[in-house]
Amino acid sequence: MHLDRNLGLDLVRCTEAAALRAARLMGRGDKEAADQAAVDAMRFALASISMDGVVVIGEGEKDNAPMLYTGERVGTGEKPEVDIAVDPVEGTTLLAEGMPGAIAVIAVAERGALHAWNGVPYMRKLAVGEAARGVIDIDASTSDNIRAVAGALRKRVSDITVVVLDRPRHTQLITEIRATGARIRLIQHGDVAAGVMTAVEDAPADMLMGIGGAPEAVVTACALKCLGGEIQTKVWTRDEAERAVLATQGIVPDRIYRTTDLVRGDNVYFAATGITTGDFLRGVQYGRDGARTHSVVMRATTGTVRHVEAYHRWDKLMQVSGIDY
Ligand code: FBP
Repeated sequence: MHLDRNLGLDLVRCTEAAALRAARLMGRGDKEAADQAAVDAMRFALASISMDGVVVIGEGEKDNAPMLYTGERVGTGEKPEVDIAVDPVEGTTLLAEGMPGAIAVIAVAERGALHAWNGVPYMRKLAVGEAARGVIDIDASTSDNIRAVAGALRKRVSDITVVVLDRPRHTQLITEIRATGARIRLIQHGDVAAGVMTAVEDAPADMLMGIGGAPEAVVTACALKCLGGEIQTKVWTRDEAERAVLATQGIVPDRIYRTTDLVRGDNVYFAATGITTGDFLRGVQYGRDGARTHSVVMRATTGTVRHVEAYHRWDKLMQVSGIDY
């Protein structure tokens, strides 16, 4: 199957819409309202895209997520048939607290290509850019992985930057990284942007390590597929109840899920728009009669990475979308 050549550009309009709407609620301390604003705008924009989309990674089960829930059909219903992963606000706390790095994200692949996690909240992740693809091993020690990446990048270990979510569960990991002499970049939230950052040009970080959301791992895999990077993951459980859920689904706890397990095939698109300014994307900047957005859109089949800067005029936007931005 060959997906519509313009799908990526259509998708970026959806992340722009989500970012424009959500950025208004920056720093207001209301995660739910900010997320809802982004969901509304993204869902509205998705409806006009010529595709038969199924949300595989969304806002949750239908019962508690009335929009963009897992299994929801989006698009006009015409071909191509695609799987969609949405994260209208990746980093809801960052946005609600006015901190850097919140983004709106969509990833699309052909039907059946995205790995759907059911009841698996967390994964252990190891992600790198193209130059270090093939040298990492999630089963190897922290120091072996850092040394392998340093070798592949022809850097000293002390020049390697590892991004880690700032969580108590990472105390041991942080100690191990420090013991190697590598640099650490602790982030409060947003490990999708952190993973993607290891694979962009002039990458601000070399590796992502640690435990983060399972849906985010699939979205990160889509971007890394486009950029030629690699992610390795393993499910991570907190308690017996979560382990029991895995068992009912036949998920083997020790299995390594690689980039190609999380997203199959090459027809993969990834689009993201900055909501609050971070290393990866600039956030929404408000002008007199509109706002400027900064987005990136990637396509795996061609390896194209486009940065899209757009100025949106409120009056025109209102006319075409009916949404009050
Ligand atoms: P939300 O946007 O859903 O709040 O997720 C933010 C995030 O930081 C992800 O980037 C990350 O994968 C996950 O939460 C980590 O989960 P936790 O905050 O429970 O450690």
